[in-house]
Amino acid sequence: MDGLISTINSIKRESDMGIQIIATRPFNDQRPGTSGLRKKVSCFQQPGYLENFVQSIFDVIGDLKKETIVLGGDGRYYNRKAIQTIIKMAAANGIGRTMVALRGIISTPAASCVIRKYSLKGGIILSASHNPGGPEGDFGVKYDIENGGPSPEQLTEAIYRRSLEIDRYRIFDGPDVDLERVSEDHMGDMVVEVFDPIVDYVGLMEQLFDFDQIRELLSSGNFSMVFDAMNASTGPYARAIFEEVLNAPKAAVINAVPLPDFGGIHPDPNLKYARRLLEIMNSEDAPDFGAASDGDGDRNMILGRRFFVTPSDSLAVLAANAHLVPGYSKGLSGIARSMPTSMAPDIVAKDLGIPCYETPTGWKFFGNLLDAGRITLCGEESFGTGSDHLREKDGLWAVLFWLNIMAATGKSVQEIVEGHWRRFGRNFYSRHDYEGLEVDAANALMDHLRESLSDLVGRHFGGYEVEDADEFCYRDPVDGSLSTGQGIRIVFKKKSRIVFRLSGTGTVGATLRIYFERYEKDPLIHHQDIQKALSGLITAAGQIAQIRDYTGRDAPSLIT
Ligand code: G1P
Ligand code: ZN
Repeated sequence: MDGLISTINSIKRESDMGIQIIATRPFNDQRPGTSGLRKKVSCFQQPGYLENFVQSIFDVIGDLKKETIVLGGDGRYYNRKAIQTIIKMAAANGIGRTMVALRGIISTPAASCVIRKYSLKGGIILSASHNPGGPEGDFGVKYDIENGGPSPEQLTEAIYRRSLEIDRYRIFDGPDVDLERVSEDHMGDMVVEVFDPIVDYVGLMEQLFDFDQIRELLSSGNFSMVFDAMNASTGPYARAIFEEVLNAPKAAVINAVPLPDFGGIHPDPNLKYARRLLEIMNSEDAPDFGAASDGDGDRNMILGRRFFVTPSDSLAVLAANAHLVPGYSKGLSGIARSMPTSMAPDIVAKDLGIPCYETPTGWKFFGNLLDAGRITLCGEESFGTGSDHLREKDGLWAVLFWLNIMAATGKSVQEIVEGHWRRFGRNFYSRHDYEGLEVDAANALMDHLRESLSDLVGRHFGGYEVEDADEFCYRDPVDGSLSTGQGIRIVFKKKSRIVFRLSGTGTVGATLRIYFERYEKDPLIHHQDIQKALSGLITAAGQIAQIRDYTGRDAPSLIT
């Protein structure tokens, strides 16, 4: 009885202070995927859905008193509403200070930068990355930890488990915060600071790259570039960096204003969705350099004049040329790539005499290696590249890295990449996605593959002989944790391979991703069309996985 009375008293005390405790029921679908919890906007709009997940985060991350977190998102639809809710929940959960991004917009790398620079407890980033926005589109929430990187699997699992038993959340009964101007105020006991994250981010880039050399290139009148911000979070950063600091001509940044529906663009910088940029870069009078970033600013696509750089090659090129860039001129400790990424970076690592780690898909797996100082650069085939300057991938950083290399060498994108192939050989590479599959059909295909693994070795498909076949699992060399079921690898003789895995970021049905790679040392073959160069492997994948039988599809819905 005494216990009950003291609970009632403490609830009364809290409600006098403006804190409300709201009863809720668990949702059973709040398990974070490759990068946070992603669902349709309409799903997040269900009463209590966002609140339950955010409360689960607060419940799991421990004592928050005196702690500071950063909060912001990629500007997509529902961003502002969710931010107001989360500020109030933070205040009711005893957080010391919440740093809210001006206008509610922060890129993922900028959030990572701020967490690290100010030694914050962590950050809540509202983003569904490259997924479409608007009321019919997707929304997402992810939590970055104190090293500025994504929550490791143990933490996301703990948050998920908490979400399954949650029965109440805490929220402050107060007015909305004005996100339009920089300010500092109180909400209950919590300090709410509205700040501009661009300054910190630009400052970090200035430390890494030779801004004078890049400025000279961009203002020389002999060099032109275009950066496509896809109406998402990087527009204001790109304008500040390229136009204001580096003196690029005003038209250098297109789609620069963040919009809640990204202006109808699917903010994924690849050969299908960065349409405007591709038109420009494929035109007769194309600029020398083109690049794009995704919704939350962590991805990048690099283009030369009528020339596409695969993200795997990009990582390899950055590694091979890192000595030209001030922030990396002392050398690299190691490189890491996600398993499906091509092995082009491995070849450079070998040449440099440094280790190259192969991790599962998802940036979170790089965190320990970066923290332990084992790697300096890392990347994924999915247009993600980054380094130990942060714990997230970083789109604008990659763009600046390329500009720095171009400024230092005086070479074009195409000259740099073709020179790289001549020196190290070329890894022909492509990814085929089958999107929107029935979940059961996609799982059945993967089960079938898994079961046939042991029978494949020694057999021939599409002119290739299978040398090895397995399901990738990863033992983290730093903390010893094991991640299983990370994709099926079929390795062929002559340094070629196919990887099959299911996406962990989609919100509708299942997406099967198939990754093809073929190594070619002979420069006479380097200029072949990629899909043609990979055609034997593409046939092999169809036969091995019986794609048509399981999915009913004749062709992928997206080729990158
Ligand atoms: C995809 C990419 C992966 C990336 C993630 C978040 O995940 O493949 O490399 O880390 O988005 O940007 P997937 O949908 O394949 O699980
Ligand atoms: Zn992203």
